[in-house]
Amino acid sequence: MKKRLLALTLAGAMVFSLAACSSGGNNASTDEQGGGTETAEVANKDKPLVWFNRQPSNSSTGELDMTALNFNDNTYYVGFDANQGAELQGTMILDYVKANIATIDRNGDGIIGYVLAIGDIGHNDSIARTRGVRAALGTAVEKDGAIISDPVGSNADGSATAVKDGSLEVDGKTYVVRELASQEMKNSAGATWDAATAGNAIGTWASSFGDQIDIVASNNDGMGMSMFNAWSKANKVPTFGYDANADAVAAIAEGYGGTISQHADVQAYLTLRVLRNALDGVDIDTGIGTADDAGNVLTDDVYYYDEAVRSYYALNVAVTAGNYTEFMDSTKVYEPVSNQLDASAHPEKSVWLNIYNAADNFLSATYQPLLQNYDDLLNLKVEYIGGDGQTEANITNRLSNPSAYDAFAINMVKTDNAASYTALLNQ
Ligand code: BGC
Ligand code: CA
Repeated sequence: MKKRLLALTLAGAMVFSLAACSSGGNNASTDEQGGGTETAEVANKDKPLVWFNRQPSNSSTGELDMTALNFNDNTYYVGFDANQGAELQGTMILDYVKANIATIDRNGDGIIGYVLAIGDIGHNDSIARTRGVRAALGTAVEKDGAIISDPVGSNADGSATAVKDGSLEVDGKTYVVRELASQEMKNSAGATWDAATAGNAIGTWASSFGDQIDIVASNNDGMGMSMFNAWSKANKVPTFGYDANADAVAAIAEGYGGTISQHADVQAYLTLRVLRNALDGVDIDTGIGTADDAGNVLTDDVYYYDEAVRSYYALNVAVTAGNYTEFMDSTKVYEPVSNQLDASAHPEKSVWLNIYNAADNFLSATYQPLLQNYDDLLNLKVEYIGGDGQTEANITNRLSNPSAYDAFAINMVKTDNAASYTALLNQ
């Protein structure tokens, strides 16, 4: 026991001296500012920084903000594969329709009608999900080589131009598939992915479309569950979301159609792990693709790293009636990376972290509790700041003293706004 502790301490000390010697590596505790000791002051602009959940990018074109992603040598993004997940969500809905074809067309008019709740028209995850649903259901229209992801508003007669009527043949019978309505769920104060707005929208849609609505699709579970509770549960209309929040997974037993796990347990780990590695001055793959000294390691069936854009992406899994019982606890740490780091080799460091909207169901009910489990395992003292989901200033105002922290984890309100944060670190 004693011996092992000593070995770990030595390993830790070696890591430190390695960090102090290397110049171009992933090391945060550099001696570049002079001093040459591990306690040398690190300038805020050189501290490890991770963007998570909202990838720095242009909200109209989706183009990645490489300046933000390359802010310093220890900058990363952690998210999940939006396209793979979106395709899964679309396929999950299509499979459900096929499997339930005998009962899906509630008014028997040969048209399978669906409504779609859109989270944020400028968020690439939201855009991908809208595209995934339209692609799978045959309602997608392309423009300049990409599927249009705009909301259509109301499309009772199928005349909208941003979507088209799809055609689906099952058991020798051909059905029309129609996106009856879709809308961005943004409240009057500007908060997007707004569950309450979705709960109201389904009321409006139900009164105009009634039993023309056969499916409810949503860019996330927060909005999906709000619509399910307000209308679809009572009317037995399958509702599909995204995120595998615990309440949504539990609702599958009551008729919620399904959801997608974006492997938040892997993302939350990666979010803090890249900071831990940078602070330890070790190879960024430590405890990720390569086992660390505590045995933590991920396999490539749950994530991948795209070095060119310094981004880690978790992979998604569909959660349906067939497997939902395995996903009931959405805040449980992922077992392969659940080992406590030794505090002498990985001493406590302080991290400033914000959640862009404290009222966001996924981030507050799933992601943050996971982060709170991992921060202990990784010996990170994290200060959690909850934003209002509306303005960047509401959050940046609370980063008045970046010098008090060793590293930063940032979840922007708008993906275009990375500079609002980096400006504070550049001062
Ligand atoms: C989640 C949404 C969440 C959004 C916030 C997405 O990845 O699926 O539920 O509202 O992130 O940025
Ligand atoms: Ca119908």
